[in-house]
Amino acid sequence: MSESVRVLLTEEEVDARIKKIGEQISKDYEGKEVHLVCVLKGGSFFMCELAKRITVPVTFDFMSASSYGSSTKSSGVVKIVKDLDEPLKDKNVIIVEDIVDSGRTLSYLVKMLGDREPASIKICTLLDKPDRRVTDVKVDYTGFEIPDEFVVGYGLDYDQKYRNLPYIGVVEFN
Ligand code: IMP
Ligand code: MG
Repeated sequence: MSESVRVLLTEEEVDARIKKIGEQISKDYEGKEVHLVCVLKGGSFFMCELAKRITVPVTFDFMSASSYGSSTKSSGVVKIVKDLDEPLKDKNVIIVEDIVDSGRTLSYLVKMLGDREPASIKICTLLDKPDRRVTDVKVDYTGFEIPDEFVVGYGLDYDQKYRNLPYIGVVEFN
C-alpha cells in the first residue's frame, strides 16, 4: 500500500494562525511569564513558531507521551516516555500539543502536571478533531478545528514520516 499527501492547510495559513494565537497569549498573560510545555515530537514545530510570537517572557521544557503505536489507531494507553527537566511549581504552564484527537493524552497530562502545583495550567493545540473526543478535556487555544481525517506535517507524523512538511496535509492511502 502506498500513500500520498493532500494539502489541507497551507504554510501561510498555519503561520498566520500561529501569529494570532501568539498575540492572544501575549495579551492574556500581560505582566506575567509563561512556561510552555511542548509535547514531543509532534508539538515541536508548533511550539517553536508560537514561542517566537509571544511577547511576554517565555521559558519552555519538553516531555514525551505516546498514545499511538505506528498505526493511525489509538491504543488508548498513555505512556510517559520522557518527563520534564524542571519543576512546574508556581509557573503559568501552557501545554503545547500538535493535535487533540480522543483527548486521552491531554486529560492524562493535565492531571499529572496539575499535581505539580503550577500557578495555572492551560492547553494550546494547533489542531483539534472535536468529533473524535472521548474525554471532556478543555482546550484553551486552538489553531484549527479539522474533520476526522488523518493529518501529517508541521510536526505530525504517519509512521514517523512527514513531520518536516511546512504545511498540514491529509494522508491518502492508495
Ligand atoms: P489523543 O490522546 O487521542 O487525543 O491523541 C493525541 C495524539 O495522537 C496526538 O498528540 C498525535 O500524536 C496523535 N494523533 C492523533 N490524530 C493524529 C493525526 O491525524 N495525525 C497524526 N497524529 C495524530
Ligand atoms: Mg502528540
